[in-house]
This record gives sequence, structure tokens and C-alpha cells, in this order.
Amino acid sequence: MPITEKIRVLIVDDISETRENVRRLLQFDNAVEVVGMARGGQEAINLSQSLKPDVVIMDINMPDMDGITATEAIRRKVPYTQIVILSVQSDPGYMRRAMLAGARDFLTKPPSIDDLTAAIHRAGEMAIDERSKLASSFPTASTTGGTSSPGMAGKPLGKIIMAYSPKGGSGTTTIVTNLAIALHSEENHAILIDASLQFGDVAVFLNEQVKNSLLELVPRAEELDPDVVKDVAIHHSASGIDILAAPPRPEMAEKVNADQFGKMLQYLRQMYAYVLLDTSSYLTDVVQVSIEAADLIVLITTQDIPAIKNANSFLTLTDASGIKREKIIFTMNRFDKRISITPERVGESLRQPIPIAIPLDDRIVSGSINRGVPFVIDNKAQPTSKAVFQLADLVRERLTNPEGQPEAAGKK
Ligand SMILES: Nc1ncnc2c1ncn2[C@@H]1O[C@H](COP(=O)(O)OP(=O)(O)OP(=O)(O)O)[C@@H](O)[C@H]1O
Ligand SMILES: [Mg+2]
Repeated sequence: MPITEKIRVLIVDDISETRENVRRLLQFDNAVEVVGMARGGQEAINLSQSLKPDVVIMDINMPDMDGITATEAIRRKVPYTQIVILSVQSDPGYMRRAMLAGARDFLTKPPSIDDLTAAIHRAGEMAIDERSKLASSFPTASTTGGTSSPGMAGKPLGKIIMAYSPKGGSGTTTIVTNLAIALHSEENHAILIDASLQFGDVAVFLNEQVKNSLLELVPRAEELDPDVVKDVAIHHSASGIDILAAPPRPEMAEKVNADQFGKMLQYLRQMYAYVLLDTSSYLTDVVQVSIEAADLIVLITTQDIPAIKNANSFLTLTDASGIKREKIIFTMNRFDKRISITPERVGESLRQPIPIAIPLDDRIVSGSINRGVPFVIDNKAQPTSKAVFQLADLVRERLTNPEGQPEAAGKK
């Protein structure tokens, strides 16, 4: 008895007149049912969770929470719900942020009735389709390989964790390779992407040969499937993580399109619980897209003044871009307690506490890099490993409680 399903729509706008206008435009469309209206971002998230609409028509500028943040949260909580952004601004920057947050479509205000219904029908079909796919695939694991395959089958979207230092050589690659391994488990798989595109060395750190690189995935960002990803990724059998290597030659870096890179990240979140990014200190388009997409940024500094000065400039930049300080885990690497520039002092002066300090240990760290065996694998009890495990715990904690207050480590 195939009754054609109606597309269930939630309208979100802080101005009641706009909500009413949109509702009125839709009332003669028999395929559409308006199931609710929300006055702000937080209410939109709550109603999406309880009503599980197929499509959310989302305003961008709202006093309590902007529409992009709400979009991201809804996509994470109700992955099949599709979001159509309705905004007065039509500039590409906004559109890109909206798309990266997981929005399906973007219309400018006021929309024509034709544009609005076309967008809702497109998004609605997509939602109904994804909902039925989720329902049918839920109990069975997805079909890739023999191992228990991550993501897809109704699991929440994975998290993007980016490691970054605005000063080269601070230990970004060292930390992110060890962190990826510390986070990975049977249930929660990790993939490590080498987004240090010109001179990426993740594969070297893990003693793996590069057959394919992310150049094989990025251009296909819109048509990925788990088999293609598994084919291109390198499986690091010593730890279980997957790796997406940087292009084999520096000049190939420019072939990577930043928008497509962003789309690939969003796809990988459906397959992996943790999508980790190693980056270069230079703020390329790819690094900027990563910053926007990241759920957490592990910002790395050392105890030198130039590194601290650069970290300060980076924080000024992220503040200006509206990136919340809670998204940043400020980490001190090569920590030597004999030096008076302590994590507490740096945290205080940059107003960003440093909850993690990874000790300086030339023997353990350079030994592990030269052997291609991250220290968390075979030197678990060493202080450097303990600090990375502590970082992994903090990452998990912050991801489950993103609004949580930053630790008091840098406070008096
Ligand atoms: N905690 C540590 N103790 C001692 N040496 C360390 C530590 N962390 C990193 N190093 C050393 O610092 C050097 C740079 O590390 P790494 O390549 O991880 O930095 P990076 O920030 O990724 O550099 P790049 O800017 O080139 O990408 C390596 O030789 C490594 O052995
Ligand atoms: Mg590096």
C-alpha cells in the first residue's frame, strides 16, 4: 500500500513574519507538510531531534545561534535531515561555509515559490531516500572488506580533528600520527589524512609505501563510496588506522582543489569515527577549509618565543573567524621543565589554557620516527606516550561535551 510520503518540513527563522511567509508559500503544495516552526538555532536542533523532519528551511542570522552552527549540529544528530539555507547574503564564502556544515541547498531571501518548492522537493527526495537506506542497512555491517567496517549504517557522523602549528618543525606530524593511533579502536576507526600537501611525511612516519595518495580521492569527492576509499587508503596494519597519503611530488599539491577536499572530509566522516588531519604551517586553502570543517583543532606550540608569537597570531585569526576557543586544544610539545616558559604562563598570556604538555625526549621521538614505529605502539609507558594518551582522552571528552569549559590549567 504505497502511500506517497509527504515531505515533512521544519521552518527556522527568528522573524515570525518570515516563518509565516514561508509556511504560506508551502500550504498549497500537497507533497509538503510543515511539521514545525522554530525561532532560533537551539530550538531548531531540539525540534529536529524530536520531529525528525525531512527538510529544514534554515535562516542564517539568528540571535541565539547562527544557522550554520545549527545546521552542523542537526546533520550530526539526524543525519538524513536535509537543510536548505535561506539567507539575505548570497556571497560564496557563506555558501561554502553552509555547504561544509552539511547544508543541501542555498536560496536567497525572499525565495520565489518555484525555487523554494523545487529545493524542498529535491532535498525531500534525498532525505526520504537516505532514511530508507539507513533503515534497511542498520542491522548489517556495510559491505567493505572483511573487517568490521566503520560508520555508514546509522552511526553518528565522525569527528574531524586537525593538528596544526603555525611554526614548522614543532612536532605536528609526530603528535597527530600518535594521536590517531591512540584514538583508534575496533569500534571507532580512525583515518589520518596527510594535508601537508607539498612535503607530507605521514607515510614515512608510519613506515608505509605510498601507492595511492589523496589525489586519487579528492577529484572524485562527489561520487565516493567505501570501496573506493578503502582502495586508495593505506591500511597501517601495526595499528589498524587508515592513511591517506599526501601527493607523491611537491608540485602536485596544487592539483588539490580545496572545495573538493572539504567535500571529501564530509564523506569520510560517514565512514570513520575520527578523521584526523596533519597540516603544514602555511595557511593554504586546504588548511583553511580544514579549520572550518574541524570539530577540534590541536594547536601545537613549543617553548620558543617565535612559536608562541605565531600561536598568538593564529588565535587572533581564529577569534576573528568566529571559531570558538573551546574547539582548540592548545598543546605544548618538546616541553622541558628546566625552561621557565611554562604551559601555565603561555596559557595565561594567550588566554588559551594549555592542558597538555608532551615532554622533550629526543631518544624516544627520533628513534620512533627513524624506525617508522610511533611511540604509542611500542613505548606505551614512556612520558611522551602518556601525554599523547592524555591528549586522546581530552579529545574524546571535548567531542562528547563540546560546550564544556576549557580546563583551568592556564588559570591562576
Ligand atoms: N616531544 C619531542 N621530543 C623530542 N623531539 C621531538 C619531539 N616532538 C618532535 N620532535 C622532533 O622534532 C622534529 C620535527 O617533528 P615533526 O616532523 O613531527 O614536526 P612538524 O611540525 O610536523 O614539522 P613540519 O613543519 O616539517 O611538518 C623531528 O625531528 C622530531 O624528532
Ligand atoms: Mg609535519
